Amino acid sequence: MANLTSFFNPKSIAIIGASKSPEKIGNVIVKNITSSGYTGMVFPINPREKEINGLVCYPSINMAPAPVELAVISVPSTMVLEVVKACGKSGVKNLVVITAGFKETGKKGLELEKTLASICHQYKMQMLGPNCVGFIDTHTPINASFAAGFPMKGEIAFISQSGAMVISILDWSTSVGLGFSKFISLGNKTNLNEAHFIEHVADDPNTKVILCYIEDVENGTLFLETARRASRKKPLIILKSGISQAGARAASSHTGALAGSDLAYEAAFLQSGVIRVRSMSELFDLAIAFANQPIPGGERVAIITNSGGPGIVATDNIELKNLKMAHFTKDTIKELGQFLPGESNIYNPVDVLGDAKADRYRLATNKVMDDQGVDSAVVLLCAGGVTEPVETARAMIEIKKNHPEKPLVAAFMGGELVAEGANTLAAAGIPCYNFPEPAISSLSGMVSYARNIHLLEDETVLTYQDIDAKSVRSILNQVKRDNRLVLLGSEAAKLISAYGIPATTTILTTQPEEAADVAEKMGYPVVLKVASPRITHKTDVGGVKFGLESFEEVRKGFIEIMEKIQMYMPRVAVNGVEVQRMMPKGTELIIGMTRDIQFGPLIAFGLGGIYVNLIKDVSFRLAHRLSIREIKKLIGETKAYSLLRGYRGEPPADIGAIVEVIGRFAKLVTDFPEITEVDINPLFAYSKGVSAVDVKITIS
Ligand code: COA
Repeated sequence: MANLTSFFNPKSIAIIGASKSPEKIGNVIVKNITSSGYTGMVFPINPREKEINGLVCYPSINMAPAPVELAVISVPSTMVLEVVKACGKSGVKNLVVITAGFKETGKKGLELEKTLASICHQYKMQMLGPNCVGFIDTHTPINASFAAGFPMKGEIAFISQSGAMVISILDWSTSVGLGFSKFISLGNKTNLNEAHFIEHVADDPNTKVILCYIEDVENGTLFLETARRASRKKPLIILKSGISQAGARAASSHTGALAGSDLAYEAAFLQSGVIRVRSMSELFDLAIAFANQPIPGGERVAIITNSGGPGIVATDNIELKNLKMAHFTKDTIKELGQFLPGESNIYNPVDVLGDAKADRYRLATNKVMDDQGVDSAVVLLCAGGVTEPVETARAMIEIKKNHPEKPLVAAFMGGELVAEGANTLAAAGIPCYNFPEPAISSLSGMVSYARNIHLLEDETVLTYQDIDAKSVRSILNQVKRDNRLVLLGSEAAKLISAYGIPATTTILTTQPEEAADVAEKMGYPVVLKVASPRITHKTDVGGVKFGLESFEEVRKGFIEIMEKIQMYMPRVAVNGVEVQRMMPKGTELIIGMTRDIQFGPLIAFGLGGIYVNLIKDVSFRLAHRLSIREIKKLIGETKAYSLLRGYRGEPPADIGAIVEVIGRFAKLVTDFPEITEVDINPLFAYSKGVSAVDVKITIS
């Protein structure tokens, strides 16, 4: 992993491409570094100048009077390779390359970027960018970017794949008084990527909350491991835009078609404890709450409002966002009843009425914050003729001091009438939103973070002593030798059996009598299925016969299937007919896998059968470190779970066996990367055990 201590806290900085012209980025960077309060040595580098902004200028990096710990490069792209090489030769270990004109511009730019990457690798240099704004650290302090302004010191680190977003958030943050520890503009992520910075700020004592805006991740496994470690230390909130490439690939399996575009990211965030937000406003709403408020001890929320409407909106949102309305104790209700006017609502949401001044808010908020049944409180204030927003804000600040363990957030609704009150709250670290919804969303984000982190503690991953990887390898080798991409049903059944997944016995036969002999040994009833990697929907072409009860039925069945295939698909090669034991009907499930380009195997579980794509009762998880807890959660998320628990008097299914099968399945698809897609559909679940009836496996 990268060591970014000297990157963010260098003893000396060179700006290569420093310029005297105030309109050039090379000039802005020099100004930003010197005006940020940076106390280390600063060396502008420019072959044509002797002095820039009062600093001695050097013609090249090797002429700098002391070792350079960080070089910020702002020369045209045609010069970058030469300059970076010179940095490497001079022993510089940390680079920021501002210059654009690399892979974002096409093939030539991509080649340039590859060479840049290899120079960094050759000289063991860590590089931010290229094509980035740079970075800011308010604690060093240093502004090694060309963004105007310097943020207030704070405890939020913002890592962004969009440079423009860094510039605009920086500007906005100073206007709303929000403090940051670091701003990092990732650029093209050629060398250092989001994972390196997440890892660093997770251990940074000046950072309490990590915010990320990303369009993709550079390395799926590295991201998963890093995010999991980081989110156990502090909240990691991510806004991810764009769609994953997995969805762009045409999917040939049910699972592939169900997986869609973004599910691998969704699963990755869920499994690593990341809080995913869907909008920029949510990203910062949540950041403000996390930066200033304690994590709530539970999900019970109290509302104090001076108007019924917003109180109802907040109540609805509490339900929508998986929180609970707090039930007050008798004492709280009694005291609220004693001190509030008779028309007030003394139950949750507490309505202190439209003519409430600060004293009523103080009393009601104090009482509910004291209540043992309340984990957090939201104060709603609608601007009105007699409201006292500033005094109310001051009362909230006092109350919060006496309740450091419980979050208190507010929504002051209005414009000028409430602005000063809202600013008073924000300055004291009480998040104040414009409307109830973001206030509730922020509390919900904090509660779900607490839940997730708690769950991440239990990470038991199943291990298996009885798996037979050799058999799987030999089946796959045979398929490859035959130049096939799809396994026959009999091969697929054998393959999953080798990993301990119970599969219905399936035997390939090539003659009618052979099929009938096999059926005699197997025991009736049996199913016959045409065996051809080219025929995916066997039933549609008359390729399946169920419930055959005798030697003669099987023999005839074989002949009829072959005739039908001859008729419907005369040019398709057929390997024979598979004889399969006809299993008693169980609950029909699907277990599938599709491979995501970034995160590897993505596992699907849900209600199986022929309507799987219509019903779409399927949930997903990444196979990477899939824990028992996560498998149980995956099963629990589906409607199939209600059936499995015993629906309408049916006996419950063997959920333990399903958990075991999913664990083994995850191991199988992780161990064999050449398996690209799998559908086990249906998997019959019984009150004791399970059986995979139809298995389709595709390899690369
Ligand atoms: N060593 C040191 N200085 C050098 C040099 C070298 N090898 N080669 C050139 N320079 C100097 C130039 O002489 C110039 O100084 P001057 O003003 O005294 O003449 C300075 O470096 C800058 O070079 P210049 O050719 O004037 O380029 P520029 O400032 O117009 O543009 C970039 C350079 C990097 C800003 C530009 O190429 C670029 O990439 N812009 C986009 C940046 C961006 O958007 N990044 C992503 C944000 S999300």
